[in-house]
Amino acid sequence: MTDHVLIERRGAVQIIRMNRPDKKNALTRAMYAKMSAALAEGDADPAVRVHVFLGVPGAFSAGNDLADFLVIATGGEGGNEVWDFLMALARAEKPMVSGVDGIAVGIGTTLNLHCDMTFATPRTLFRTPFVDLGLVPEAGSSLIAPQLLGRQGAFALLGLGEGFSAERAKAAGLIYDVVAEDALEAAVLAAANAIAAKPPQALKIARDLMREPREELVARIKVESEHFRERLTSEEARAALNAFMTRKKSS
Ligand code: COA
Repeated sequence: MTDHVLIERRGAVQIIRMNRPDKKNALTRAMYAKMSAALAEGDADPAVRVHVFLGVPGAFSAGNDLADFLVIATGGEGGNEVWDFLMALARAEKPMVSGVDGIAVGIGTTLNLHCDMTFATPRTLFRTPFVDLGLVPEAGSSLIAPQLLGRQGAFALLGLGEGFSAERAKAAGLIYDVVAEDALEAAVLAAANAIAAKPPQALKIARDLMREPREELVARIKVESEHFRERLTSEEARAALNAFMTRKKSS
């Protein structure tokens, strides 16, 4: 098991901490697998009432590891880990809270669309450059983002790949609040503990009522994934991914 994701219990709160700082928390297949397992185990354990997602200082996540994308783009095997994680997010039974500091790219942004409360620091920039990479929105973001941001806000985020600062994200309804870097974890844990103190069954029903029907979300993720997979092997995606990898080699 990878230690690029650290799992910790604090009372009724399960903390899932992405911890690959040298790669700005770019997510590998092993990291997705560990996060999926943590969500499933936490959901199955009555002692856990809330899931919390955190990153490292300055990096929530730089998104899917682009080297893994390039493997698929060039005909290699991709595995099911990303799909399993997206299903785990969509089907999670317990509230999820996230604390975002700094880089939040791709799934580093769209993961938060599944959370019930997201706190972000002033230096955070949410960005989903899917189209620039020759790809399409994923993780149900094409369904959830228009609900939160309106059609035009969602187009700016998911179509144009515009960056959303924490303040803009809050004003747009993408996140719950903006807090200083040194106050982030305390704010996230305070919110998580407040959630954990509620009657869990009433809260579960209330939460389910407020979210889009799970099956609708799952169906959208499936359609997005089919496009995503096809796009990954497109010339547009290969060129963009190669450009990123080449940039690495020449620096
Ligand atoms: N996949 C693989 N490696 C990544 C990565 C990703 N998504 N994001 C960052 N890294 C790696 C970099 O290649 C670099 O590795 P190296 O030190 O071995 O060269 C390291 O993480 C640090 O990244 P760097 O680019 O030097 O940091 P930065 O602060 O200048 O920029 C980003 C950070 C996130 C803006 C930039 O790395 C980036 O654009 N990454 C790609 C993001 C992306 O497109 N994600 C997919 C969305 S679908």
